[in-house]
Amino acid sequence: MSNSKVIQGGTVVTSGSISAADIRIENGVITAIGSNLDTAGAETIDAAGLYVFPGGIDPHTHLDMPFGGTVTADDFESGTIAAAFGGTTTLIDFCLTERGKPLANAVKTWHEKAKGKAVIDYGFHLMVAEAGEEVLAELPQMIEQEGITSLKVFMAYKNVFQADDGTLFRTLQLAREEGALVMVHAENGDVIDFLIREALDNGQTEPIYHALTRPPQLEGEATGRAAELAGLADAPLYVVHVTCAEAVERIAAARARGLRVYGETCPQYLTLDVSALEKPGFEGAKYVWSPPLREAWHQKVLWDALSSGTLQAIGSDQCSFNFEGQKELGLGDFSKIPNGGPTIEDRFSIIYSEGVAKGRIDLHQFVELVSTASAKLFGLYPRKGTIAIGSDADLVLFDPLVNRKISVRDHHLRVDYSAFEGMPVHGEPVSVLVRGDFVIRDREFVGKPGSGQYLKRERFGQGVRGLAPKTSTSSAGGPRG
Ligand code: URP
Ligand code: ZN
Ligand code: ZN
Repeated sequence: MSNSKVIQGGTVVTSGSISAADIRIENGVITAIGSNLDTAGAETIDAAGLYVFPGGIDPHTHLDMPFGGTVTADDFESGTIAAAFGGTTTLIDFCLTERGKPLANAVKTWHEKAKGKAVIDYGFHLMVAEAGEEVLAELPQMIEQEGITSLKVFMAYKNVFQADDGTLFRTLQLAREEGALVMVHAENGDVIDFLIREALDNGQTEPIYHALTRPPQLEGEATGRAAELAGLADAPLYVVHVTCAEAVERIAAARARGLRVYGETCPQYLTLDVSALEKPGFEGAKYVWSPPLREAWHQKVLWDALSSGTLQAIGSDQCSFNFEGQKELGLGDFSKIPNGGPTIEDRFSIIYSEGVAKGRIDLHQFVELVSTASAKLFGLYPRKGTIAIGSDADLVLFDPLVNRKISVRDHHLRVDYSAFEGMPVHGEPVSVLVRGDFVIRDREFVGKPGSGQYLKRERFGQGVRGLAPKTSTSSAGGPRG
């Protein structure tokens, strides 16, 4: 039986257009966009007064992830339900691998984590810890068979996830040959490790020392090093969670040279600052991310970089640990605080509110940053990331007039705090559809765990024009440069 819907009377916004239009959906796919569409045989949905955006794509999540001797508070069920409430219909989670073990084992584990739980569509990035012969032989199969077309290399977290420069370079070379995109966590892990030990030896144990032992120079240095290696390998590079002017400068310089270097930042770096780590009573632990929150002036640099196209995407870096019992593992030793925070549900609304409502970016840039750019970079476009005939009907009906405050009392994560507690936001997703089915309807969850589908993704750049960087002489199109 045909499953037909017509969304009527909304303002349909993509990264390149805005119009008052109806959208017809048949069996999960958009089949018509226009005025007064035929509603025969279809359920009609009133979107008057609402924006209709493409579903958000979160390119950076850690669900059900072990870290620092514990496991994130949120898994693929609570994490994707919260994501859907927040306007996200697709996410790409990081699949961690173990040195010396087949990559296929890690991918199988991640499939098992998501199966029967996810309520939105999802893909995986694959971590490369050591580019030995076996890993290099297996990677092409993961790319071809699993559609995992993005590989993650950590330049920090010494003795845990950190890879050496040889591994980064070999992974970049392979990515160029195979059409994959290498992502880096860019911080100089060796120097950070030294600074952490020095601080602890001096009795500096409070959460603020997490930030002080990871200064922005070390993010800038690693970002520049990764960009240089990507240039040498002639491979594209995506820098995750950019926090500071030092890193933005390196990305801008690489792009000005024509290198295919892309950058992502996250809502926390755009709205919170390092002073949060000094909150009394160990509360600062709630704000421990790596890289750390920076001095407030970096926020303007990040907004400007988003607006100018130096940075292309916004990820949440969702990685939640309860304050009680998990963040508290670092009482008396900041280096034992599990890194990360709950952000998946608020990414879309914070960027709308702090970005569009405050005039820092326009509506089209908003769509590009929270959805379209990630679809293009990560091999999902135009199936995802836009509103077009033939695209999946992943849609967010968004009320821009709602005023509310973010609170742990209202979120749908399991974690016991909100990093954005009390932050005022304009706008809220009202209803969210994934492939034409409501997951959120009138602010109620109506989805089904397990309904989210795994996405095998296309290789980097496949069928997508405009992935060249924006240089001073070129103004090539999206994902914005
Ligand atoms: O602090 C963070 N960002 N935790 C998650 C792991 C990572 O580095 O992305
Ligand atoms: Zn990271
Ligand atoms: Zn992360």
